[in-house]
Amino acid sequence: MMPSSAASAPAAPPRAHGAVSPVFDTLPPLSLYVHLPWCIRKCPYCDFNSYEAGPGGFAEGDYVAALLRDLDAERPLAQGRAISTLFIGGGTPSLFSGGAIARLLSGIRERVALEPSAEITLEANPGAAEARRFGEYRDAGVNRLSIGVQSFRAAQLSRLGRVHGPEEAERAIELARGAGFANFNLDLMYALPDDDLDGALGDLSAALARLPPHVSWYQLTLEPNTVFERRPPRLPPEDLVLEIERAGRALLAARGYRRYEVSAYARSGHRCAHNLNYWQFGDYLGIGAGAHGKITLRAERALERRAKARNPRTYVSGAGTARAVVAERIEDARQIAVEFLMNALRLPDGVPLTLFEQRAGQEIAAIDGPLREARALGWLADEPGVLRASAAGLEVLNRLLALFC
Ligand SMILES: C[S@@+](CC[C@H](N)C(=O)[O-])C[C@H]1O[C@@H](n2cnc3c(N)ncnc32)[C@H](O)[C@@H]1O
Ligand code: SF4
Repeated sequence: MMPSSAASAPAAPPRAHGAVSPVFDTLPPLSLYVHLPWCIRKCPYCDFNSYEAGPGGFAEGDYVAALLRDLDAERPLAQGRAISTLFIGGGTPSLFSGGAIARLLSGIRERVALEPSAEITLEANPGAAEARRFGEYRDAGVNRLSIGVQSFRAAQLSRLGRVHGPEEAERAIELARGAGFANFNLDLMYALPDDDLDGALGDLSAALARLPPHVSWYQLTLEPNTVFERRPPRLPPEDLVLEIERAGRALLAARGYRRYEVSAYARSGHRCAHNLNYWQFGDYLGIGAGAHGKITLRAERALERRAKARNPRTYVSGAGTARAVVAERIEDARQIAVEFLMNALRLPDGVPLTLFEQRAGQEIAAIDGPLREARALGWLADEPGVLRASAAGLEVLNRLLALFC
């Protein structure tokens, strides 16, 4: 477990009458998320905090400097811990030069300790993939790439507004391997506009034929404030979506990919440690426009959620000051329990009950009533020492969580 700051912790402040506050005996592992918000073109389905770079591009040097100012201000929140995983996401991080990523990583290392075996992922778009750049990322210390393939069908890629075709996706995978990335993920989406079973499974087979160590297989969803929400494409009906999911999961399992989260599949030894830390309710710092963080504060007996200014210009001008961050304290043990369960119950293998006690800061007895009810309904597995949604529970996850609210 991580070093703790309990020895010097001042007495906890008094709580409002009736509220039960958590007690954290240890601090969880700490991850770092870095958000790089620019893309070549905004995809019509995407609600991530991303912006078209435009003909003038963007000032990558200014942005990297802002990220490091942001990290300077966040550093005390590490509370003595080293960073165990780092994820550079976007947007399209592969629009940044190798030199900018090298400056970013060396600047991070100057400010916080990185565990020697830290997983360091960078998201790449096949429409922004170059051999030299991939090699430079690797030399800078990136040891995992996440490549946004989405589909191997040219017509679907065009409907999704992607800036690349299937050939560029194949090339990006080869470039990643050629640059020495033994560890990489392919992002794919299913239930695409007018999709059918053969098309969706064809995409998955094409991806698996490239032997990726990890696959993220997402159902396309219509998100608020996107072009697809305003002008929805015709999506496949629910029964077809279920058929695609059943057949796809069977194919993934037959090829040796184990499902370890709702949309994440990995060959042995290649689970994404960064995402697992989120789902296991670990801590994370978030730097960059619109980045989010979650930190356990032992002395204050609370969690803190932090969000940075979303607009890149506002972010760069305020980075490192209170102007660019909104922080919210969560002190109510019940709310923390629900947040823990919202994450941990997404994991088909579940988590040890002891993890709940450590990371939600309370005895399992605090949720004894809803636990019994969920078990009686068959929504939780009846396994000693483990908190795990059953197959039936995973299908009604929102109703299962509502029992604990
Ligand atoms: C932030 S994007 C990063 C990758 C990179 N920007 C790209 O698109 O190639 C992460 C992934 O989320 C998935 N995604 C984005 N919007 C989605 C949506 N509306 N429904 C399902 N998956 C989505 C895509 O698979 C995408 O690759
Ligand atoms: S490239 Fe990725 S982050 Fe950018 S708009 Fe498309 S899906 Fe969103």
